[in-house]
Amino acid sequence: MHSILLSGVAPRPIALVSTMDSNGNVNLSPFSFFNAYASKPPIVAIGPAFSAATGKAKDTYLNIIETGECTINSVQYSMVEQINLASCEYERGTDEFVKSGLTKRPSQIVKPPMVAESLFSMECKYLENIPLGRSIGGNGNLMLVEAVRFHIAESAFVDGKLHPQRLDLVARMGYNWYVRAHGEAVFELAKPKWNGIGFDALPESITSSDILTGNDLAKLAGVKELPMRDENFPYFTEHLTADSLEVELQAGNGLGALYAIKSIRKERIILHRIAKVFLEADDIDKAWQTLLLE
Ligand SMILES: Cc1cc2nc3c(=O)[nH]c(=O)nc-3n(C[C@H](O)[C@H](O)[C@H](O)COP(=O)(O)O)c2cc1C
Repeated sequence: MHSILLSGVAPRPIALVSTMDSNGNVNLSPFSFFNAYASKPPIVAIGPAFSAATGKAKDTYLNIIETGECTINSVQYSMVEQINLASCEYERGTDEFVKSGLTKRPSQIVKPPMVAESLFSMECKYLENIPLGRSIGGNGNLMLVEAVRFHIAESAFVDGKLHPQRLDLVARMGYNWYVRAHGEAVFELAKPKWNGIGFDALPESITSSDILTGNDLAKLAGVKELPMRDENFPYFTEHLTADSLEVELQAGNGLGALYAIKSIRKERIILHRIAKVFLEADDIDKAWQTLLLE
């Protein structure tokens, strides 16, 4: 159950949590049962489980209950080996900053220090714990904490916005898999600007396509209203020349592909392939007009 659940509910962000017991002993541990649930006020939760092997509570859990404070720090790719080391089950009272070689940075409101290497840190106050178990080892907890101060490195911003390529965050997946939210793995998807017509408004000739995928159909279904055929489409410029259909499709040149087939039969399968080229370029108008040529 553990591995299946954690493989399907993935990737999960990782909270690098620092806490202190009432004697001032510092603790640092990673938790991927972690997420944000509200922004006003900013409330996040972590899920320290009772050890499956021993049934013992995690130091993080005990410290938060005892002192009501923690800091939550981001995990960049450059820190993965160190957070892995910090996750070792050291004895209560062991300072995993020392073990992992990560650096303490004083907090302003709470007592536990932040992690200097993290680009994004939150000072947090404990709100409540929801026990998720029935006193069996492996049972979980849902600890809600409120972020009372944020600390974000200047270097994480591009044009005033936090940028994923700068944050270079790492997330946990099933078994021993991790994922790095960086490079081509990171993409943008704009929120819908209006209520799209929906799949149920798409003609059957389009929804039954062997070429267009669910993502392609969703782009077509995202238009405000069902488009009408534009008799002037496709508008070829005088200078347009085209190679064969296959060459134009390979080159992602939708208009060239239409030019290449202008004198041959406009079969559905070909029109769907050309529409897909326009969809890949986010040219939804031309994709629709191509489909309406049938
Ligand atoms: C990336 C990562 C994520 C983890 N997530 C969790 C988690 O969500 N819940 C949990 O109980 N343990 C989790 N662990 C294991 C704890 O970090 C580990 O048990 C740690 O020793 C607990 O330390 P503590 O007893 O000092 O609090 C995770 C380990 C790693 C490496």
